[in-house]
Amino acid sequence: MERLPFSQACENNKGPILEVLRELFVDRLRVLEIGSGTGQHASWFAGHLPHLQWQPTEVQQHLAVLKPRCDAFSGANLLPPYALDVSQRPWPGAKIPDAVFTANSLHIMPWASVQDLFAELGERAGADTLLAIYGPFNYGGQYTSDSNARFDGWLAQQSPYSAIRDVEKVDALAAAAGFVPRSDVEMPANNRLLAWRKA
Ligand SMILES: C[S@@+](CC[C@H](N)C(=O)[O-])C[C@H]1O[C@@H](n2cnc3c(N)ncnc32)[C@H](O)[C@@H]1O
Repeated sequence: MERLPFSQACENNKGPILEVLRELFVDRLRVLEIGSGTGQHASWFAGHLPHLQWQPTEVQQHLAVLKPRCDAFSGANLLPPYALDVSQRPWPGAKIPDAVFTANSLHIMPWASVQDLFAELGERAGADTLLAIYGPFNYGGQYTSDSNARFDGWLAQQSPYSAIRDVEKVDALAAAAGFVPRSDVEMPANNRLLAWRKA
């Protein structure tokens, strides 16, 4: 069998993220995932949270990386992936579902795209939508660890647009989009799982 696209980081963090999502998404019906990468999260969460319909998405140029693992999934609650770039608004799909998830994407996409993500959810997500974002964040303008500082230096070398985001600035975008903070969970390897609920 051909090997599926694989991310070691995804493999390491999918278990701890699942434990948070079990509680956070307990009463949700459908999740829109943004920047699904290899599909390891999508297939793991769909497999372990069968009450959810999981909708993976990726930017058009990376859709071919996502598709094979989604095709290999045997259950019925992982929907076929489609192209979604947060900066190409309005996003495809008639309706934003009652939950939105993204992992390790805010520090990759340009800040303008992070702004687009929240603007779209502000305009189109319904009341009570839950938004969960996993990744590294800075607090009070400070790195939370030396390893995050090194990672940010590495990101800067990869792209002038990529950087670990300040949680306060992300929170301000969320507030402007009508979201209220729900939880901020410390995760392994100096990551966080932030969640908001649309008022
Ligand atoms: C480091 S990868 C993380 C992938 C996966 N979520 C994970 O945790 O392994 C960052 C992802 O963000 C996606 N991304 C970057 N810019 C984006 C945009 N404007 N809209 C949607 N996704 C974007 C990339 O295509 C990439 O898959």
